[in-house]
Amino acid sequence: MSDAPVSLYDYEARAKLSLPHNHWEFIEAGAMDEVTTRRNRSAFQALSLRPRFLRDVSNRKLSTTVLGTEISFPVMVAPAGGHKLAHPDGELATAKGAGMSNTLMMLSTSSHYPMEDVMAAGTGPKWFQLYHRGYELSEMLVHRAEEAGFKAIVLTVDTPVPSPKERDVHNHYENPFPLGNFRASAEMAAMSGTDEAPNWRPAPVPPLTWKELGWLRGLTSLPLVLKGIRTAEDAHVAVESGVNGILVSTHGGRQIDQTLSAVEMLPEVVEATKGRAEVYLDSGVRRGGDVLKALALGARAVAVGRPLYWGLAVNGAEGVHGMLEVLRRELDHDLASCGQTNVQELEPGIINIPYGWGAGTTAP
Ligand code: FNR
Repeated sequence: MSDAPVSLYDYEARAKLSLPHNHWEFIEAGAMDEVTTRRNRSAFQALSLRPRFLRDVSNRKLSTTVLGTEISFPVMVAPAGGHKLAHPDGELATAKGAGMSNTLMMLSTSSHYPMEDVMAAGTGPKWFQLYHRGYELSEMLVHRAEEAGFKAIVLTVDTPVPSPKERDVHNHYENPFPLGNFRASAEMAAMSGTDEAPNWRPAPVPPLTWKELGWLRGLTSLPLVLKGIRTAEDAHVAVESGVNGILVSTHGGRQIDQTLSAVEMLPEVVEATKGRAEVYLDSGVRRGGDVLKALALGARAVAVGRPLYWGLAVNGAEGVHGMLEVLRRELDHDLASCGQTNVQELEPGIINIPYGWGAGTTAP
């Protein structure tokens, strides 16, 4: 009998056993009380599927496109820095695993391997995630990403200030590996205080605001995705600014605590964009049913963050591939059980939203 992990939670449990304690804590941590991190799960669990039967669901299509690029199923790998924390081959293994599943990987600015090596390592499409830490650095990274063959720039907007996790403070945690995309020590220093270089000495960063977004767009012909937008107000400005995609995300609850979950903010972002930009979601996706729920609420695809480290820790590239295949199998099962045959043509009504779920109103 095979003892392969059955669910993402099996991957999580095995990763916990195999990883050094402080690495494990860094990967799992959320900001402060971790309320948002937990809410990312509980909000998904409060939504229910409404199965439909006695239909021919023998042929099912899971593949879709994101910004015109085909992926074999609507689950991508979220950008997360420092994959060597979970496996010596780091992002090279993640790229291989995502490629084996024919899906897209977003590579973090704070990767341990250089973006060019990661691009060469895997067969699947890739987007480059940008942390803006100064105009010169952003320009250098965007030009390199375009040159290397990344298909979009994903600007993470939800980190205006560094966000030390209390678990890491207690552990006196410092990321032990250098960042792969930076050659000069001045460049490395500028990155301190980001999520992945958690020594949180805030570097003075010339800010990037909506006003300068045009500057960023002017650097490249690649499409632009904003990661971390979670209100209709910001989504409006984003589409007015001509962005091509919005990744609704709470950063896994790692930046600001006590917010709504990503899935609760998804409907208002979808509504605000009115089809003018593709909308994706990450934060708390652990089951195929979660993928289906997000799609039913208007997401084109979702991404997973922590589970990529779990896959890596269990078995490198094969582990990332295996973790993604669990989600594919579960999504396929739930798609069929809801009487659906195509992830791009879901019927309304396959999801039940309880009264009182999600975004309410703001204080006057
Ligand atoms: C992240 N995330 C992240 N996001 C980003 O834009 N740039 C980054 O470098 C990182 N780094 C990072 C490191 C670690 C250890 C984690 C767990 C996460 C956030 C990531 O892209 C994604 O938003 C969340 O991980 C999604 O939530 P789940 O799937 O972890 O619940």
